[in-house]
Amino acid sequence: MFLHILLLSSVFASRPTTVTLQNAAIEDVRFPMIGLGTGGYGNDEVRAQGVYPECWSDGTLDPDGTYGGENCSSSVLNAVVSFLTMEGSRIDSSNSYQNMPIIGEAMNASGILRGEIFLTSKIGSSMPMGYNETIQQVLGALKSYGTDYIDLVLIHWPTSQRNSTDPVCDYGAGTYDGTECRLQTWKALLYCLEMGYIQAAGVSNYRKEHLQEIIEASLELPSVNQCPFNPHLYDAQSELLVFCQENNIVFNSYSPLGIPDVHTYPATISATGKIIEEPHIVDIGFSHGLTAAQVLLLWQLQKGIAVNPRSMNATHQTDNLAAALFSVNLTSEENDILEAYGANDCADDKWFECCGSGSHVGVCDPGSSSKSDAKSWPMYLILLIAGLSIVGALIFIVIVLLFQKQSDLDEPDVFEDGTGVRAVPSAPHGDIGETSRLAAHIQLDSHSIDYETHYT
Ligand SMILES: NC(=O)c1ccc[n+]([C@@H]2O[C@H](COP(=O)([O-])OP(=O)(O)OC[C@H]3O[C@@H](n4cnc5c(N)ncnc54)[C@H](OP(=O)(O)O)[C@@H]3O)[C@@H](O)[C@H]2O)c1
Repeated sequence: MFLHILLLSSVFASRPTTVTLQNAAIEDVRFPMIGLGTGGYGNDEVRAQGVYPECWSDGTLDPDGTYGGENCSSSVLNAVVSFLTMEGSRIDSSNSYQNMPIIGEAMNASGILRGEIFLTSKIGSSMPMGYNETIQQVLGALKSYGTDYIDLVLIHWPTSQRNSTDPVCDYGAGTYDGTECRLQTWKALLYCLEMGYIQAAGVSNYRKEHLQEIIEASLELPSVNQCPFNPHLYDAQSELLVFCQENNIVFNSYSPLGIPDVHTYPATISATGKIIEEPHIVDIGFSHGLTAAQVLLLWQLQKGIAVNPRSMNATHQTDNLAAALFSVNLTSEENDILEAYGANDCADDKWFECCGSGSHVGVCDPGSSSKSDAKSWPMYLILLIAGLSIVGALIFIVIVLLFQKQSDLDEPDVFEDGTGVRAVPSAPHGDIGETSRLAAHIQLDSHSIDYETHYT
C-alpha cells in the first residue's frame, strides 16, 4: 500500500500535495491537502455516525449505558494507524469528537515521527467559547493527545452550544456579545500560537461576516477556515471560498463526499440519494478511471480546497490519498456538471445546505447570528409556547408579589441573616435579541448539533 502511494506520488503528482499556511501560523507550516476525518466514528459517549456496526452506530447502548465505545475506539485506532502508515499525514480531530486520547495512542502506535504528522484539533462547539475557556481547552487537548504541540487548532463554530464563564460568551447574562465572544476566543488562540502550544490557528464554519469582524479588529486572520463543501453546496459556498482565497485563508472542506452513510439528497438526483452513486459523477469517474468519490475529491482539490474525508476502510483511504496525486484534470464541461448540483441543494430543512442559495435563497443564512428569518413552523410553535409561558409566569409573579406585599406589612424588618436588608432578586438577564439569536443559531446549526450529539 505504502509503495503504491509512493509510486503514484513520484510519477503522477501534478498539483501541490501540501500548502504553506499563512496569516495566523508560524513560518513554514505545511498543510496536507488530504486529511482523515475522525468526527463521526463515535465512542463510549457519542453514538457513531452511519454504518459502523463495530461502533454500535445503530444507537444500541451497552448494559452500562454507554455506546460500546471500546470496539469503536479500536476501529478509530486502526483507521488512524492505517492512514498514517500509508503516507497520509493530516488527522482532523476535535475536542467535541471525544476521541483525543485514542488518536494520541494511534499516533504513537503508527511509529510515524510526530514531526511528520499534522494534527488538527478544534475548541468550542460542544465546549464553551471565551478567552480563558479556550486556553484551558488547548492545554487540556495537549494532555489528552499526549503531545507537546498541536499543528492547527480551529474555533469549531462561530457560536457554542455551551454557556461560558467568560461574560461576553455567557448566553444567560446581559453581557453576551457574539462578536466580542468570537474575538476573545480568537485572541486566546493567537495567544496559544505565541506560546508555542499550537503552530497555526484557524476557524471553522465561519461566514464572511465573521471573518470581517477579525479584519475590523485588526487581528491576524485565520490560516484555515473549515467548512462543508460538496457539489450540492457549490452555490452556497462559492462566495466564501473566493473570499477565503483572496485573504490567503486555506478553505478546508468537511463532508466532502456528502456524508453518504448518513445523508441522502433528493431522489431525483440519484436513485439512492447518495452523491457518490450519482450516475453523472460515476460516468465522469469512469472516463478517467476514477471512482465517484475520487472525482468529488479531485474537483475540490482542483479548486485549491483541502479535503478530509472520513474513512475506516483501507481501500477507501488509499483511493482518497491517491486523489491528491493524479495528474488528471477535470474538463470545464465536467466541472459545469458538478457545479450544477449547487442549484438543487436542499434535502432536509435541518441541514446546512438548506441555508444556502439556489432554490433556497433567503430561507436562512448559516452562521449569520443576527438573522432570525430561519424560523420554521416548529420554531414558531416553540416561540408561541415560550411566549405563553412567560405571560403565565408574569401573572403568577404579580399575584405572589401582591400577596407578599400584604404579608410584609406584618413582618419585622430583620431577615434571616440578621442584617435587616432584604435580598433584592437580580434582574432577569438577556434580551430578546440574544435569545432569538441563540435560537436561530441552534436552528441554523442543527446539522452541527445533530453531528455533535449523535456522531462526533
Ligand atoms: N468542522 C465541522 O463542523 C465538521 C463537521 C462535519 C465533519 N467534519 C470533519 O470532516 C470529516 C469528514 O466529513 P463527514 O464525516 O461528515 O463525511 P464524508 O467524509 O463526506 O463521508 C464519510 C463517509 O464516506 C465514506 N467514504 C470515505 N471515502 C470513501 C471512498 N473513497 N469511497 C466510498 N466511500 C467513502 C465513508 O465510509 P467508509 O468509512 O466505509 O470509508 C463514510 O461513510 C469528519 O469526519 C470530521 O473530521 C467537521
